[in-house]
Amino acid sequence: MSKIISLCKRRGFIFQSSEIYGGFGSCYDFGPLGTEMKNNIKKAWWDEMIKNHENIVGLDAAILMSPKVWQASGHLTAGFADELVECKSCHKRFRTDEVKGQKCPECSGSLMASRKFNLMMKTFVGPVENEAAATYLRAETCQGIYVNFENILNSMRLKIPFGVAQIGKAFRNEITPGDFIFRTREFEQMELQWFCHPKDAKKYFNFWQKERLKWYLNLGIKKENLRIKEVPEKERPHYAREALDLEYKFPFGWKEIEGIHNRGEWDLSNHSKYSGRDLRYVDEETKAKYFPNIIETSGGADRSFLAFLCDAYTEVKGGRAKKINLLLPPSLSLGRTKTTKATKEIEILLKLHKDLAPIKVAVLPLVRNKPELVKKAREVYQLLKPHFICQYDELGSIGRRYRRGDEIGVLYAITVDFETLKNDDVTIRNRDTMAQERVKIENLIEVLKEKLEN
Ligand code: GAP
Repeated sequence: MSKIISLCKRRGFIFQSSEIYGGFGSCYDFGPLGTEMKNNIKKAWWDEMIKNHENIVGLDAAILMSPKVWQASGHLTAGFADELVECKSCHKRFRTDEVKGQKCPECSGSLMASRKFNLMMKTFVGPVENEAAATYLRAETCQGIYVNFENILNSMRLKIPFGVAQIGKAFRNEITPGDFIFRTREFEQMELQWFCHPKDAKKYFNFWQKERLKWYLNLGIKKENLRIKEVPEKERPHYAREALDLEYKFPFGWKEIEGIHNRGEWDLSNHSKYSGRDLRYVDEETKAKYFPNIIETSGGADRSFLAFLCDAYTEVKGGRAKKINLLLPPSLSLGRTKTTKATKEIEILLKLHKDLAPIKVAVLPLVRNKPELVKKAREVYQLLKPHFICQYDELGSIGRRYRRGDEIGVLYAITVDFETLKNDDVTIRNRDTMAQERVKIENLIEVLKEKLEN
């Protein structure tokens, strides 16, 4: 894990929040490459929901809501609390289920009796800090969907079954944040709420778990690193009739990256009760009035980011070029340049799926001390830039630049060499196979689009 954390900082994926002030516990900032990659994950999820399924619409609700929402949802009561124990000596707090025995894991002091600790983050709106002005940062994004159920239904003329998708920040005052961005106090969720007739709840609960599993696999997560775990009744969230965790095998163990819940009529019936608004659905044909059941798929953008990163992170001992060259007869060079031969003991390759890789294309002049090559390479870069997330790199040997690109998952490296000046063509190097092909500059956009979009 430490190698992935170090890559994240070194190459601009993730930084510790407020680092110049010594850091701010459990908060992280996504750097230039991390922002691109996280946006790609969110876009892949959004497209999956909105384009690949019927009857799903989007929402972007406010983070701050009436505190009554959280009374109705059950988050202010014991339902949304972790059991914690506190050390009598150092006063550190730990989740009860993470402590073995009666001694503090930090200082071996005695522990107090276990008690409940609510995870909602309180804040105050307006100039006066009193209870009347108190509210909470949302602890799950889906409540914004439930309180807009009527608005969405009426404005979009939807019929059951239908879904509402939303991506946004959520906040929890976690007792033991940790494992890098796995458990933080501020994080982003990608949630689908699927409203259906109660008799169909089981069917859609099964349907959505399969769909969600497929999404991760299609984006390159290895099958052996993904599993579904049924959550036993006593561990289920307070709102769930049935619950499954989609788990990824992180370097620190199998952990949840997405929760799939059958929330029954918990949310709509409670919001009806607390708001006084009848949120039952009326079937136009049968005139039957009922609370739709809700099947929820709730994924973490940060946790899936970490899972995609861990899954893609590959170390090649002794260097990639050397290894492949050993397996091939000398006549079969696959157009590899001599300069891709490894000079390092270990090379890093980030084998991210093409839709998730932060930089799609790098443009490289073969050498930087030939002004005509640099000029041509800059022209190629300007040509590609409006079409692809692209970078220009001229520093260091070409082999070193290929490896720098591999380390951040650049899919294609375009090299401008001396032949380019004669024939107006360039080489395209594939990140995963290192195979190179020559392509006319006039066809470059089309060829790259074909590779990246299909
Ligand atoms: N609306 C249902 C809900 O929020 P959850 O299982 O509590 O369900 C769903 O959370 C997902 O949100 C998790 O699977 C995880 O990916 C993400 N998540 C929850 N707490 C998190 C935290 N403290 N840090 C990072 N991600 C978190």
